[in-house]
Amino acid sequence: MRWSDRPVWLLPVLATVICVGIGLAVFLGTGGQGRLAAPTAQESGRALIGGPFELVNHEGETVTEADFAGRPMLIYFGFTYCPDVCPMSLQVMAAALDQLEPDARAEFQTLLISVDPERDTPELLAQYVTSEAFPEGLTGLTGTPEQVRRAAEAYRVFYRRSEQDGSMAEYLVDHSSIIYFMDRQGQFVEAFPHATSPAQIARRLQRFLEEEGSGSSA
Ligand code: NI
Repeated sequence: MRWSDRPVWLLPVLATVICVGIGLAVFLGTGGQGRLAAPTAQESGRALIGGPFELVNHEGETVTEADFAGRPMLIYFGFTYCPDVCPMSLQVMAAALDQLEPDARAEFQTLLISVDPERDTPELLAQYVTSEAFPEGLTGLTGTPEQVRRAAEAYRVFYRRSEQDGSMAEYLVDHSSIIYFMDRQGQFVEAFPHATSPAQIARRLQRFLEEEGSGSSA
């Protein structure tokens, strides 16, 4: 069937399904070695997800992972033209942080890494990240297509420009929809797949801070 036969509202719905499907596939994939009943991503993914990156922040400055060291991070890969999945995920991130006390909330650095570097300029990201619905202090990162590709590879993020529409201006990007939780050293802690609730994320972040406070965190 051709896209033009479908009602317009189906497009965001399908984009959602694609994002969620990919997100789940990648999340399950971190179980490793093809075993579905594998250890959790938390156990098996530590060394596999994350790593060095060089990108450009929404103020136009070149930054690396070292610029964010010292604070635990919540990282989401998406793009500003995304009709629904990305805004929703960033709102979930904000809602999770809102459930923490202000001091705890301020510990976390939130990052949006664009998977659409052709359109997501630093200027566009600078506007986008100030949305009231998104986490306060959200930092947008973009870069050259090569810089973005390397960062996405480090985080095992899948993305691909959708060919459903021939128009360059209108294209979507299919992408994983996962919130990555990294510790103060940039090491992987947990991946929250697309359907994770703000309350679930908030509890995990709270537990992280408590374990840190009691010295039992690795
Ligand atoms: Ni999206």
